[in-house]
Amino acid sequence: MVTQSALLHMFFLLSLAVAPPSNATTTTKPGCQSSCGNVEIPYPFGIGPNCSKNSHFNIHCDTSFNPPKPYLSFANVSLSLEVVNISKSQIHVKNSELQLARTCYGMWFYSNMKNYSIHLNFDSTPYTLSDANQLTVVGCDDMAMAQQISDIIDENGGFGCLPYCRKSRDGVGKCPGVGCCQTSISKTDALKVELVDMLTIWGKDKKDFRCSFAFVGMIGKLGNIKFKLSDLNDPRAFGKNNKEFLDRPLVLDWRIDPFSNCTKTSCGKHSSCINMVVGNGGYHCKCNEGYEGNPYLRSGCQDIDECHNNPCDSRGICRNSLGSYSCHCSYGYYGDGKKNGTGCIPVPVSHSKVTIGVGLGSGIGLLLLLSTCFWLLQVSQEGKK
Ligand SMILES: *[C@@H]1O[C@H](CO)[C@@H](O)[C@H](O)[C@H]1NC(C)=O
Ligand SMILES: *[C@@H]1O[C@H](CO)[C@@H](O)[C@H](O)[C@H]1NC(C)=O
Ligand SMILES: *[C@@H]1O[C@H](CO)[C@@H](O)[C@H](O)[C@H]1NC(C)=O
Ligand SMILES: *[C@@H]1O[C@H](CO)[C@@H](O)[C@H](O)[C@H]1NC(C)=O
Ligand SMILES: *[C@@H]1O[C@H](CO)[C@@H](O)[C@H](O)[C@H]1NC(C)=O
Ligand SMILES: *[C@@H]1O[C@H](CO)[C@@H](O)[C@H](O)[C@H]1NC(C)=O
Repeated sequence: MVTQSALLHMFFLLSLAVAPPSNATTTTKPGCQSSCGNVEIPYPFGIGPNCSKNSHFNIHCDTSFNPPKPYLSFANVSLSLEVVNISKSQIHVKNSELQLARTCYGMWFYSNMKNYSIHLNFDSTPYTLSDANQLTVVGCDDMAMAQQISDIIDENGGFGCLPYCRKSRDGVGKCPGVGCCQTSISKTDALKVELVDMLTIWGKDKKDFRCSFAFVGMIGKLGNIKFKLSDLNDPRAFGKNNKEFLDRPLVLDWRIDPFSNCTKTSCGKHSSCINMVVGNGGYHCKCNEGYEGNPYLRSGCQDIDECHNNPCDSRGICRNSLGSYSCHCSYGYYGDGKKNGTGCIPVPVSHSKVTIGVGLGSGIGLLLLLSTCFWLLQVSQEGKK
């Protein structure tokens, strides 16, 4: 018995090693590249116009890098964003130049340092800036003013924050805290951030450090970012020493076809279409329960073979069916057969060879009573020996 189960176990491990991964279902249109470098590119995204759903989901795979890097760009918006990863409803992208604004008082020698504002505009695209982003402002006396065109509340008004610091003894800035403030951003189609020089308010003598930075990116761990305040006098040093601020991707929510609703042909086989009720509409596709795959492809979703990771009791037999599965207990056992459920419970049999037929519907209390009797009988027989 032991060797048999060991063999079975080995066979199981071997079959795991040989079997293709369970998500080997196609994620792209036939004949299309499924990844660029280390990044998976699932449909509706695609590398090249014949592989994506439409131009908004077109990914350019730049093979001049090793490994190659995927980029998302827009036809008439001069945004080129490196793709970090793509998930079911979000895409992480980055372009540290576009995400950053900086201003340096009196630094005439940095004549190209005039990027004191950030403009991110995803209007008329399937993308919106997710509320998983935040605005971080680093500096000692400049204020960042932000405005967003929300697709939920139009003209959401302005917001912003003002970092403040004095020449601290240890010269250390903390985020948020000394020389750094952070503020959340709600879901929006477009965001505009401007660094406003407060020199006229504070006075030149209070200008302890010359530069200020504003950065829009994914919310990170708070309270554990430190930086040298003296770097605020040197934008290049600040950029080099503070990758925590400047390397955070932007989180974008995506959906199909803003300004339209689900139709019968919107999603693939065995999937359902979900209208976005807020904002400018659009929709998502989702595999039906018990199916997996890419619901955006016409071929849609495929049945999950639940029995692959046997969800049944060791005394049960698994049977896969379309969209579902069932467990059947072997002869002499009863129950729903699921590891997750009651499993397979031995049907108690009395010694006097009287078979007690127990249907699934019988009360567990009766069974408990019977098995207790059985146990008592055994104990008393042991005692007699
Ligand atoms: C896209 O498909 C069309 C029609 O099948 C073909 O003519 C064209 O060459 C394809 N373009 C690319 C970039 O593969
Ligand atoms: C892009 O072009 C379309 C049509 O030409 C226009 O309606 C849309 O406003 C443009 N988007 C931006 C952000 O300029
Ligand atoms: C995508 O990238 C971000 C940041 O690099 C990471 O936090 C997130 O977990 C990633 N998501 C997936 C689905 O890999
Ligand atoms: C920032 O400045 C550089 C150099 O002048 C320019 O190439 C870049 O487009 C600017 N970025 C933005 C967001 O204006
Ligand atoms: C989508 O459906 C909503 C609610 O049924 C409706 O108000 C809206 O006009 C529809 N939009 C389009 C583009 O059909
Ligand atoms: C167990 O059952 C619950 C509810 O029926 C389900 O949500 C859960 O995913 C199951 N767990 C496993 C390991 O099958």
